[in-house]
Amino acid sequence: AETFFRSGELKNRKALVTAGPTYEAIDPVRFIGNHSSGKMGFALAEELYMRGADVELVTGPTALVPAFRGIKITKVVSAGDMFDACVPAFASADIAVMSAAVADFTPANVADQKIKKQSGNLELQLVQTKDILKELGGRKKSNQYLVGFALETNNEKENALKKLQSKNADCIVLNSLRDEKAGFGIDTNQVTILDRSGKEFRYGPSSKKEIAKNIVSFIVTQLDAK
Ligand code: CTP
Ligand code: CA
Repeated sequence: AETFFRSGELKNRKALVTAGPTYEAIDPVRFIGNHSSGKMGFALAEELYMRGADVELVTGPTALVPAFRGIKITKVVSAGDMFDACVPAFASADIAVMSAAVADFTPANVADQKIKKQSGNLELQLVQTKDILKELGGRKKSNQYLVGFALETNNEKENALKKLQSKNADCIVLNSLRDEKAGFGIDTNQVTILDRSGKEFRYGPSSKKEIAKNIVSFIVTQLDAK
């Protein structure tokens, strides 16, 4: 019954969406994570599905369940796992939306056993993770539309535009943490989409579901223009 209400706008298009945090293991019982709830990514996957797309949602650890059974869900834990899931999935995707809060650093070594307190402080060595969006940007063909996200606390537009360029995305969704009606774990959001021509499109504050509709409508328009 759920398919009855899907529109045909994105029929025969495949969309890859990432969501949630990643967890980087320190030892068998501990990890480094972040406060991403996954709500924005799930809302985007659901909206893309409702517009008729075939959707694969690659998600880090969250308690959320997609609203529609037709959404293919791939559960991952670490940034490395997410990278490994996204690269092959992107090859056949028409749209990719990278809304996950991917860890930038991961422990250089994962201890086999639980780390004991021992005597003093613990020093962890962290190494950089691979950048999934940048990898996909490097592989992007002219018919593929790639959406990045940016979370900034200062010099927001300048930093977001740098990310857009350096990762070869088609647009970037700027999330401002300054706004109390936006961000982690909250149901409302306020975003600015920046495109390659430097144009700005502001949406919200409104529910993440409403923002997802705005973002997907933007993508549909851009795809039609490609
Ligand atoms: N991203 C990614 N892989 C990573 C890190 C980030 O794909 N290892 C993606 C995010 O999903 C997002 C975009 O890159 O779409 C920007 O993420 P953000 O954390 O804002 O920027 P970074 O490039 O990681 O830079 P920094 O955190 O230093 O601002
Ligand atoms: Ca980052």
